[in-house]
Formats: sequence, structure tokens, C-alpha cells
Amino acid sequence: MIVLGIESSCDETAAALVRDDGEVIADVVASQVAEHAPYGGVVPEIAARAHLRALIPVLDAAVSSLDGGMDQVDAIAVTNGPGLVGALLVGVSAAKALAFATGKPLIGVNHLDGHLLAPFLRRGSGEETPPAFPYIGLLASGGHTAIYRVNTPREISLVGQTRDDAAGEAFDKVAKLLGLGYPGGPVIDRLAKEGDPSAHDFPAPMPSRKNPDFSFSGLKTAVARHVRTHGVPTTEQGMKDICASFQKAVVSVLANKAVAACEREGISTLALGGGVAANSGLRARAKALCDKKGLTLCVPSIKSCTDNAAMIAYAGCVRYANGERDDEVTPYSRDPKRLRGKFRADGSFVPRKR
Ligand code: KG4
Ligand code: ZN
Repeated sequence: MIVLGIESSCDETAAALVRDDGEVIADVVASQVAEHAPYGGVVPEIAARAHLRALIPVLDAAVSSLDGGMDQVDAIAVTNGPGLVGALLVGVSAAKALAFATGKPLIGVNHLDGHLLAPFLRRGSGEETPPAFPYIGLLASGGHTAIYRVNTPREISLVGQTRDDAAGEAFDKVAKLLGLGYPGGPVIDRLAKEGDPSAHDFPAPMPSRKNPDFSFSGLKTAVARHVRTHGVPTTEQGMKDICASFQKAVVSVLANKAVAACEREGISTLALGGGVAANSGLRARAKALCDKKGLTLCVPSIKSCTDNAAMIAYAGCVRYANGERDDEVTPYSRDPKRLRGKFRADGSFVPRKR
């Protein structure tokens, strides 16, 4: 089975072809980073217009990698939320039109399911080991930061989430404060490698391992206060030190809470996902903690962590193989169905009382 995936929820226009065993046949991503960089963040109206320009060439590039083109595609999967509604509409409209014109089934995919199932993508490096169910998924991106229990691809429950900013948003805002440009994650990651993480004592936000929620806005304020008092570092080493200290505070709390969730839920596998999972400090910290606790860590390739359509195609494959298809696919901005709670041994779900 081959599924075409389409992704346009934020600032990446993407199309991909994936087999039901996770093999990635084509994976095309057109980034809008340059268009949003002058504003220091994603501008929804610019994103929607850029998707309109990029989508057809991106789709053509992906589908042309099959000799039989669309004839070889079994179903079309598209991200329909959560995300920027104007941006989502572009991908959803194209997917609907293509499904109508070709008579192929259409499947709406939750973007977060895509990130959480990305460890199943096989890109031919030979190093990818898919996680065993159940696993804990730490999803940290520009728009979301949360811990999930993934019982099966169709049984995913929320364990904890950020109460304010997403981790990627904190990277981007701190980079903006320091005049490092957009997006902030990759540049802070690069500078932090040569910095001293103990140079500044930024507080690890909400550090209690018992509490599965996150908060990053206080940390961002601590960096802002430091910059107001001392100014932006004027030396290269000073900049590297502040990046390393900030990054350490973020990644330690992410990794500690994800590992604590594994222990609490009695689950021995942790998988990382989302753009922040590309961070070398987070990968190293999660590896060290998992080794210490005897847990298996699954870290997708960087291409599978940041936004892509292969993860959407794979999540679509899973739904299609399960006999599902959607007659109507409507974009939505916020995740409507993720509930905090627990799965019982028999698979039934018990929502947590608030
Ligand atoms: O998953 P993603 O591509 O898009 C969203 O769904 O949001 O994540 C983008 C976020 C941005 O905030 C970016 O700064 C962050 O991921 N990011 C990183 C790194 N690479 C991307 N953050 C920390 N370290 C990185 N190496
Ligand atoms: Zn994402």
C-alpha cells in the first residue's frame, strides 16, 4: 500500500509517499523560513499565501517519483489540524480536489499523531529501530510540547503538556532576544555546543518529576531580565555561554519529565518527536538518562522530527489499513480530542477528573 501525504499546518509545505511498512519513497519539503525570518516568527497570512505558491510544485515533485504517478497511490492523507487554519485550508483543499479527481480515498490526519508515529518511518539508513508499543512520546515543537502515552497508533493519551509556551517557541523567542534570528532552535543548538552550561543559573522551569506538565514562559522572562540588566553578550564566548545555560534548562526538564513518565507508567520505551527533538543537547540528555534507567530510546532522523509529510502519510497508512477513511475533512486550529487520562489493561480509556 502506498499513501500520499500532504502537510501545510505551519510554515512547511510538504508532500510525501510512504508504504505501509514505513518505507519513505519520496519526501519533499519546501520551507518558508526565509519569508518569516524578518518578522521573527510565523506570520499566518504569509504562510497561507506561500503554501498556495509551493503546493503544486511540491506535489508534482513527490508524485513524479513513481513511474505510474497517482495510479500507484492507494489513498491520500492530509493534515487537517491542529495548526494555522488558513495554512491548513491550502493542503486540505488540494487533497480534497485530488481525491475527487482521482477517486482515491481521503484521510484526515492529526498533525500530532504524525509526529508521534514518525519513529516508524524508514529512510534506508538501516539504523532506525521502531519503538515497541506501548511507548512514551515526548513531542516538543514550535507549537506543542507534551508527553503522550502511545498504546497503539489509534490509542494515544495525553500525560502532561505545557501550560504556556511550547519549547520551540522558547528557543525562538530567546534567540530573538539575543538577536540570533529565526528559527532560534538550530542556532542556539550550534552555539550551545561550545558554551558553558553552568555560566548562568537559569531556573529549570517546573522541575518536579512528579508533575508531568511544563512551563517555559518564566525561563524566557529570566533570560529577558538578564539581557535587560547586562545587555546582549558582546563576546562570542558570552553568547555561547548564555545559549548553553538556557538550552540546559530546557532540555533537562524535557528529558527528566519524559523519563519520569516512563517510570510512572511502567513503560520501557521513550520516543522523541517534533522540531526540538532535533536538538543535540536533548538527544544526548535523553540518551544518558535512558541508558541509566535501562530504557530504550527511539530518536527519529532529524528529517523525521521537523515538520514533514512522510509522518502524515504514515499516520494515514495506519488509519487506512484499519479500514478508515473520511467523507469530510475539515481544518481545525486546536486539538479537539486529546484527553488527559489512562488506558486500562483491556484498552478502555478513563479520562482524568479535573
Ligand atoms: O516540528 P517543527 O518543525 O514545527 C512545528 O510543528 O512547530 O518545529 C519547529 C520548532 C522551531 O521552534 C525550531 O526553533 C525548533 O523546532 N527547532 C529546534 C532545533 N531545530 C528546530 N529547537 C532546538 N534545537 C534544534 N536543533
Ligand atoms: Zn509539527
